Amino acid sequence: MKESILDAVGTPLVSVRSPEGATVAAKVEAFNPGGSAKDRPALAMVEAAEEAGELEPGDRIVEPTSGNTGIGLAVVAAARGYDCTIVMPESKSPERRRLMAAYGADLELVSGEMESARERADRLTEADEDAVQLGQFENPANAEAHYRTTAEEILDQVEGREVDALVAGVGTGGTITGTASRLLEAFPDMTVVAVEPEENPVLSTGESGDDDYQGMGPGFVSDLLDTDLLDEVETVALADAEAECRRLAREEGILVGQSAGAASVASYRVAERIAAPDLDCPEGPEDWRETAATDGGAERGRDDCPLVVTVFPDSGERYLSTGLFE
Ligand SMILES: Cc1ncc(COP(=O)(O)O)c(C=O)c1O
Repeated sequence: MKESILDAVGTPLVSVRSPEGATVAAKVEAFNPGGSAKDRPALAMVEAAEEAGELEPGDRIVEPTSGNTGIGLAVVAAARGYDCTIVMPESKSPERRRLMAAYGADLELVSGEMESARERADRLTEADEDAVQLGQFENPANAEAHYRTTAEEILDQVEGREVDALVAGVGTGGTITGTASRLLEAFPDMTVVAVEPEENPVLSTGESGDDDYQGMGPGFVSDLLDTDLLDEVETVALADAEAECRRLAREEGILVGQSAGAASVASYRVAERIAAPDLDCPEGPEDWRETAATDGGAERGRDDCPLVVTVFPDSGERYLSTGLFE
């Protein structure tokens, strides 16, 4: 039995469609209590603020967010007894608003994008002495959460296989920075691939643009993103990401949001580039386990079979009203 819902953070690593001679596996983050990867940084940032004496009973958490961090913080605030105000661009899906309200958070909607939400949140924090902003774009606890949890879970879940590439969408950069830092300690030759909107390719071109992704591609390079870790950047058009969401749902029974669709498209491309179809790679996890048990994997070149790990940040349920699955 868990003491609190917050002790239930953690997700499965699931093998998904892969080219011949390679495996792509995804952390399906919708399994977290608040339904996204953002439960991890939300909890870690609250714990860090509590430990630093910055957040005390009766305080109010104020945060500008495109949605998932808000839901994660609303979950943590409810479980830990804090008030919570989320400032969000009105362009984000209504499911997000309703979820935050369901957890008891107050909502401030702003016109414009994340910059406007950040300005409004700063004003709210200045005006209320009990208000604390956790600052997901600068807060090191955001990336640390992925270093300590997402990456550790992956290390356990690959069951001894070497990870050849990590592919992840970038918003604050917390997921890719934290997860890559830890995995590189175990697999120093691993390639780190960032994913961003084709319509807003700040990392690949330095130029921002307009995109309709929710959560990925903030339009600037976040302070938290350690660009030195990145070997490559893949851009994915929203239409391709959404088509992949529909395919994942219909062919694999995995219901995920837009940035997961983009991560899946990019992971397949990376896997195609490093695939080794000539190796007799075991097919599914069961086959892998058997091979490892019988010949230690050496005979079939088990250790050379390429593995790409990616992160599916949230559930497709969060996008139903956008028509994504129609
Ligand atoms: C749906 C979705 N995808 C991707 C991301 C990017 O994750 P990170 O902020 O860790 O870079 C976020 C972040 O909010 C998100 O909500």
